[in-house]
Amino acid sequence: MATASVTKATASPPAKTQAVEVSAPNRREFLYYIWGASILLLTGQATAGLVWFALPRFREGEFGGTFVYGADQMADMMPAPGAAPVSVPAGRFHLTYPENEGFLALYGVCTHLGCLPKWTPTTHRFECPCHGSKFQLDGKYIEGPAPRSLDRFRVTLTFADGTTATTNEAGDPIPLNGKQVVNIAVNTGARIKRPGRD
Ligand code: FES
Repeated sequence: MATASVTKATASPPAKTQAVEVSAPNRREFLYYIWGASILLLTGQATAGLVWFALPRFREGEFGGTFVYGADQMADMMPAPGAAPVSVPAGRFHLTYPENEGFLALYGVCTHLGCLPKWTPTTHRFECPCHGSKFQLDGKYIEGPAPRSLDRFRVTLTFADGTTATTNEAGDPIPLNGKQVVNIAVNTGARIKRPGRD
């Protein structure tokens, strides 16, 4: 009689898993992490602030920024001496060239209550539609309730000989002395208030 042989499979013992010990940060490490994160946050905020201040607030050609006109635009933008001003509604200014004075960029807002005086060819002056203030071609007060002459913007002119001239702190007209202007830059972020009605 054949006897069945039974082979017992010998089971190998289960492999021992190695426990990885993860320790929670202690109080000192935790404070280091907080400190490091705070430094990173402050550095990021300071960098963002610097970039924000370094960027121009207004783009070229929008009110508050600079309006630039090159040589090919002089025929349209440069008024003849004593002629009607060139008005730029987007920049709220008028370019004027009062004879025997020089070049100016006048802020086109009335110094009384903020209406927009219009150039009136028949009287050759600016006339405010709201309360009737009048101003000369150079913005000087003529009559009406306006407390002072029209304000001015800082302008930089570039001449054909490569020299430049910029409006002074008082906002005086820039004398051209026969020089040909090839570039006009009007800074509508630099308003100059005239002290009174002169
Ligand atoms: S707002 Fe121009 S006169 Fe009053």
